[in-house]
Amino acid sequence: MVANSMEELVSLCKRRGFIFQSNDIYGGIKGLYDYGPMGVELKNNLKQAWWKSMVYERDDIEGLDASILSSPIVFKQSGHEDTFTDPLIDCRSCKSRWKADQINNGECPNCKSRDLTDPRPFNLMFKTAIGPVDDGSSFAYLRPETCQQIFTNFKNVLDSTSRTIPFGIAQIGKAFRNEITPRNFIFRVREFEQMELEFFVEPGSDDEWHKYWVKKRTEWWINQGINKDNLKQLNVKKEELSHYSKETVDILYNFPHGEEELEGIANRTDFDLGSHTKNQSDFSISSKVIRNDHSTTKLGIQKLNEKKIYLPYVIEPSAGVDRGVLALLNEAYIEEKIDSKNSRILLALKPHLSPIKAAVIPLKKNNDKIVNLSKEIKFNLQKVGLGRVILENSGNIGKNYRRHDEIGTPICITVDFETLDDKTVTVRDRDTMEQKRISVEELVDYYKNYFN
Ligand code: GAP
Repeated sequence: MVANSMEELVSLCKRRGFIFQSNDIYGGIKGLYDYGPMGVELKNNLKQAWWKSMVYERDDIEGLDASILSSPIVFKQSGHEDTFTDPLIDCRSCKSRWKADQINNGECPNCKSRDLTDPRPFNLMFKTAIGPVDDGSSFAYLRPETCQQIFTNFKNVLDSTSRTIPFGIAQIGKAFRNEITPRNFIFRVREFEQMELEFFVEPGSDDEWHKYWVKKRTEWWINQGINKDNLKQLNVKKEELSHYSKETVDILYNFPHGEEELEGIANRTDFDLGSHTKNQSDFSISSKVIRNDHSTTKLGIQKLNEKKIYLPYVIEPSAGVDRGVLALLNEAYIEEKIDSKNSRILLALKPHLSPIKAAVIPLKKNNDKIVNLSKEIKFNLQKVGLGRVILENSGNIGKNYRRHDEIGTPICITVDFETLDDKTVTVRDRDTMEQKRISVEELVDYYKNYFN
């Protein structure tokens, strides 16, 4: 089951503290969102699942956390200064601004005027001044994708880890794009997070590795709880490929507003290392790169048992964290009837993604014995280290169950008067709503087993 509309998701996100409009109390800024108490947990859990599958469960990928502010040279060489643009059209009548592909029949979509400017390229990168004097002489870009600093750190990582090809560098972090028309909630925003892997391979083995990563990444999204029927692989047409790509497969998800890109897996060939390397002419670079007179470092690698140094090709699975969160919220959203009168909203997230792993609820909020025992249970479960366990001391058990259904808490544990007598608690399952009594002694094992 999925949500009926984006509005349902937006409403749940605000009501339950997942996502808020940024700068809300001052009227908000378009294309910027803040993650609330539940949102930050869900987002962290998704990023952790990605990191685990990329860095911890494999032995051919290293991690990186590079700076967001980047020298303009990086984005000159990468081609972003010249090509990372959208064609922009202004309406002279109502002063609205549009991407060229939003204009139909030469009319402004807002006021229907035909008094429009010609399309002109608009660069999507944000700039900021570096140092105390803002005279334009020293500036940096806020990175529009996380991967460029992976390429510029290629030799640092290689030298400090003794890796050989094939190997990858993974990074999760913020990226910024001055989107002309941010839209569809957190789908297209101006500040977002990416989870990017740059996997370096021998030229000639690139097509095989590309196929491998398309399959691997599709399976990963299914393991996060996305129904495979809502995913599609799209081979990007040659004429629509980014300037660096030989072949790209987009993983599309059926979002509430339509089928769109969740992740792209590109074969970037030797474009990136070829763009950023010193002494470009020492390599036979297959892609079209800008001449580099600035780099201080050769980004080649030696073939085993050979003298020759070559530039590896790059396969890049690049996923959006925010789009992932939106897809997961949509997939998990269920509205179901409990009986003839009542219904409930349930967020059936996979337990490893749930913002709260367990809620401990004292039946009586003013009873010291019950509350103290609840606190002890909370701390014992928290110590297991699977994520956030919460003490829910508001007293209304029905309301607490509703709230925890809506934020996707897999189990609720109620401590009541019986607990004081026989040392058992009620454990309620989110999905089935079944309740059973479990002894306090067994609770930590029960909890560990539930999540394993
Ligand atoms: N390094 C390659 C790259 O950045 P991309 O297709 O432009 O490729 C990769 O972006 C992913 O980043 C997309 O699949 C999407 O999930 C996410 N993304 C891109 N622009 C975004 C935006 N404005 N808002 C939210 N997510 C975005």
